[in-house]
Amino acid sequence: MLKRKNILKIAIDSPAAAGAGTLAKAISKHYGLFYLDTGKIYRFVAYLKIKYPKKFNNKFIKSKIMSLKIKDLSNKNLLSDEIGTEASIISKIKSLRKMVHSLQVNFAYNPPKKYKGSCLDGRDITYKIVPDADLKFYITANVKTRALRRYKELKGLKKKITYKEVLKSIKIRDKSDFNRKISPLMKTKDSLLINTTNLNKRSCFLKIKKIIDRKINN
Ligand code: C5P
Repeated sequence: MLKRKNILKIAIDSPAAAGAGTLAKAISKHYGLFYLDTGKIYRFVAYLKIKYPKKFNNKFIKSKIMSLKIKDLSNKNLLSDEIGTEASIISKIKSLRKMVHSLQVNFAYNPPKKYKGSCLDGRDITYKIVPDADLKFYITANVKTRALRRYKELKGLKKKITYKEVLKSIKIRDKSDFNRKISPLMKTKDSLLINTTNLNKRSCFLKIKKIIDRKINN
């Protein structure tokens, strides 16, 4: 695999709806990094499962992953709660994780030339996908705050869902993501913990920016 030298690599892991995506996007923009929301790839596969239930086998998934374009990941259909739940189910499949693995590693170590590096967020980024990242973060918030943020986001997308339903599905997803055998979500020792419960987007960004600047200027 081709690895670009002297690039900045940032790895982020977080439970569902902790604000990692928003932060990662802001950081990537600020530092000129290529951003990859790895959860979207699992959501994309979940979407395939729901859309093409009869064709859904390894060969089919592989061909779809091979031809995946970054812009396919911004499909609004991927944001629903139903897709999120299905994503956490299919993400337990070992063969599927393997297929997705190389795609992620490639983006992390060999981002498009116009970027100065990469920033990936997900569940296993800090210890499996980019174990040698220059900076690692574990971003979290209490479950009710996360559910409320996701609820507002889904309402903004005009989805029919109640806060209670969102809270329930986030709890189920947490249980599955933390406890699964393959690549469970965890905070590695070398990841910096950022709890966003009482922080707004701007203060989260500034907090992380301070840490990154210190690292870069060292
Ligand atoms: O981050 P997001 O909520 O979009 O992720 C959807 C699901 O995809 C997660 O609940 C998790 O089960 C799975 N996932 C994963 N590994 C990643 C990213 C997401 O297993 N690196």
